[in-house]
Amino acid sequence: MLRRVKRPQSRLPALLRAATRARRHAYAPYSGFQVGAAVLAGGRIFSACNVENSAYPLSVCAERNAVASAVAAGHRRIDAVAIVAGDGRPAAPCGGCRQVFAEFCDPDAPVVYASTAGRSVITTAGALLPDSFGPADLLAAAPRPAGIVRDPSRSAARVRGARRRKK
Ligand code: THU
Repeated sequence: MLRRVKRPQSRLPALLRAATRARRHAYAPYSGFQVGAAVLAGGRIFSACNVENSAYPLSVCAERNAVASAVAAGHRRIDAVAIVAGDGRPAAPCGGCRQVFAEFCDPDAPVVYASTAGRSVITTAGALLPDSFGPADLLAAAPRPAGIVRDPSRSAARVRGARRRKK
């Protein structure tokens, strides 16, 4: 589903509330650092928390869990993101999560990250990861690499848009 939500900025307060609620369920016994995230897709809000593991590298960030739940519900366009982490300074999303936003968000999609104290920073997916690697790079490198099946949900128009933005 690639329907675009109008005025996603207006949904940021609701996204922050959802992220705050999800953060309460964070499973973070190793780091003690709880994160909640919520994404807007197809007009719906999908929220999640970070889930750690005793085999540390298997831990998954809240943002990526939220994106995965939107994708699992059939949404491949994320219109806005909210993250709640950190007690004083709002904690910005890690580099891996920025790359995941770049996969599913337009560069102008709003991203807000806030501390539990209510301080917040509003930015965009494009500002968090400028000049990002993306599907257009794969297509540019080889029209159809062996073993990689073209994803029909990523329309030619979208890939062209990504190419144009890179110029
Ligand atoms: N974490 C997130 O959930 N999102 C981020 O963007 C940065 C880090 C989590 C992963 C781990 O459970 C804990 O915070 C400490 O790194």
